[in-house]
Amino acid sequence: MKKVVFDNYEQLSVAAAEFVAAEINKKPKFNLGLPTGGTPVGMYKNLSEMNKAGKVDFADVTTFNLDEYLGLERSHDQSYWYFMNKNLYSNVNLKPENINIPNGTADDMDAETKAYDKKIEDMGGLDLMVLGIGPNGHIGFNEPDSYLIAPTHTVTLTQSTIDANARFFDSADDVPKMAVTMGVGNIMKAKKILMLISGANKKAVAKALNEGIVTPENPATMLLMHPDVTVLIDKDADQ
Ligand code: GLP
Repeated sequence: MKKVVFDNYEQLSVAAAEFVAAEINKKPKFNLGLPTGGTPVGMYKNLSEMNKAGKVDFADVTTFNLDEYLGLERSHDQSYWYFMNKNLYSNVNLKPENINIPNGTADDMDAETKAYDKKIEDMGGLDLMVLGIGPNGHIGFNEPDSYLIAPTHTVTLTQSTIDANARFFDSADDVPKMAVTMGVGNIMKAKKILMLISGANKKAVAKALNEGIVTPENPATMLLMHPDVTVLIDKDADQ
């Protein structure tokens, strides 16, 4: 695991966008896994500007988002589809047919999750998976537990995640209790992983990544077993 420390969030965001753009520019047809949350917003802003400046082209990029809340329509302003559309899709030349997010309102979630995994496989797998990290160590919505699930699956969110994400909603009661997420298997199969860690509330989980112990109680530690992970972290989150 390679770690690069930045003085602040702005610098981290520029470096994250440059990393993603450099990977896209290396390969004509690129499969890109993407996260939501507050952390990647700066990266998306920089990628949008780079796209407008002709420094990165999304015409042949296919995106696969990590996760989505269950029960929120795309038009809901807290759905991850809405977030992605606002922060990236509407700002760059991604083709609408190349955008993928698990559908959290599908009638048959079992079929939805299986189809999502099949599409990733059929497309040749993820070239790059960009990840944030929850304050409890979750990646996507793979929550701390005594076990982790490999494929895309539905999940009941922990109270700590509901509390952490309540800041985006009117109240904690409005945060959906369930979500659909790529599993740790999907993430580990990505050829390359870029993880972004920012803010003092990530210090404890970031520290655990330095300790070399892999435990489902901190799902991000699974990345210690992946051969090509780069962590971009700001000083506030670094120990
Ligand atoms: C959500 C997402 C995660 C993300 C996490 C951290 O829970 N499901 O993929 O990493 O938020 O968000 P933030 O960057 O706002 O701390």
